[in-house]
Amino acid sequence: MPPHAQVPVDSSPPVAIDVDAVVLVGGQGTRLRPLTLSAAKPMLPTAGVPFLEHLLSRIHQVGIRHVVLGTSYKAETFTEYFGDGSASGLDIEYLVEDEPLGTGGAIRNVAGTLRSDTVMVFNGDILSGLDLSALLATHHDNNADVTLHLVKVSDPRAFGSVPTDPDGRVQAFLEKTDNPPTDQINAGCYVFQRSVLESIPAGRVVSVERETFPGLLAAGARVFGHVDASYWLDLGTPAAFVRGSADLVTGIAPTDALPGPTGPALVLPGAAVAVDATVVGGSTIGRGVVVGAGAVIDGAVVFDGAVISAGARVTRSVIGANARIGDGAVITDAVIGDRAVIGARCELIAGVRVWPGVELPADGVRFSAEG
Ligand code: GTP
Repeated sequence: MPPHAQVPVDSSPPVAIDVDAVVLVGGQGTRLRPLTLSAAKPMLPTAGVPFLEHLLSRIHQVGIRHVVLGTSYKAETFTEYFGDGSASGLDIEYLVEDEPLGTGGAIRNVAGTLRSDTVMVFNGDILSGLDLSALLATHHDNNADVTLHLVKVSDPRAFGSVPTDPDGRVQAFLEKTDNPPTDQINAGCYVFQRSVLESIPAGRVVSVERETFPGLLAAGARVFGHVDASYWLDLGTPAAFVRGSADLVTGIAPTDALPGPTGPALVLPGAAVAVDATVVGGSTIGRGVVVGAGAVIDGAVVFDGAVISAGARVTRSVIGANARIGDGAVITDAVIGDRAVIGARCELIAGVRVWPGVELPADGVRFSAEG
């Protein structure tokens, strides 16, 4: 598919299926600070809407209606935005963990709310092109206890790997190594039989990756992999966050929740972009944002109410809500917190993070020696 092609979306209403969805959204999102100081990671605006809305659109698309959100950190930000889910055509319930229970503990914690024998579990910060119907089919065809989405990645050394036998049965859960025996990694989406989910110990911290899955293997459970090479991105870091947002805007990553057509940029209502400014690379320009003359914004996420002044260059960066970027400033691979003020001609690059409300004077931080 060419990079800016419209993702084909089936316009017929999906038929409801008898499967529950559980989305884990209780993590603190420390790697995305300072953005996650005020909102949970899945609530950060990504291609114009909270990231979770993209995932929920795909859950709705496959026909799932009952969704349980396992929340903890900033739990109220989810309920305030999604309510009972009816605006999204869903029936959403919330289970709040006073103390985070870990991924396995959070999955076990929802057991009392389930309505179906088949449960799809999603890590709430994964952007993927997985065919959810195909994952369910693999699970049912194998009469599996648990089926994991395993995605093939070009460099598996950064992840634990999950080899399978020729029938697709999982053989092991291996730690990170420089020489992994397979390019298949755990993609953070699972199908559980309800009875298996109920066998996870209740009321304590459990890691599904480190404890539950290896334990099921050791006990001889039917644990299968659904292997594909679809689009897959863990939005845990600033670099991944801006890339995922850009891929949603350009249509490389699938969603039914983009508030506009796919293309080189998404400019939300109320934004004012100067005619000679350049906005490309899947950038999102939030509501009420002002982009000044000659500014260049490439592959960036600009939250609502920010100001990008004349001649500024913003590349692969996140600009927080109501932040102000001065004339001619250069922001590359950086995170600028909400309400921060970056003075004219400052240069902030290479992973720098500016905390909310911090003010840098004109020429106050430079990377290059001249000027
Ligand atoms: P970092 O702090 O940056 O590592 O991010 P994180 O806290 O989100 O952790 P991680 O990326 O490992 O979590 C994967 C997914 O599981 C995310 O969607 C988290 O929200 C979710 N998650 C992690 N721990 C818990 C937990 O204890 N309870 C619940 N309900 N969800 C969790």
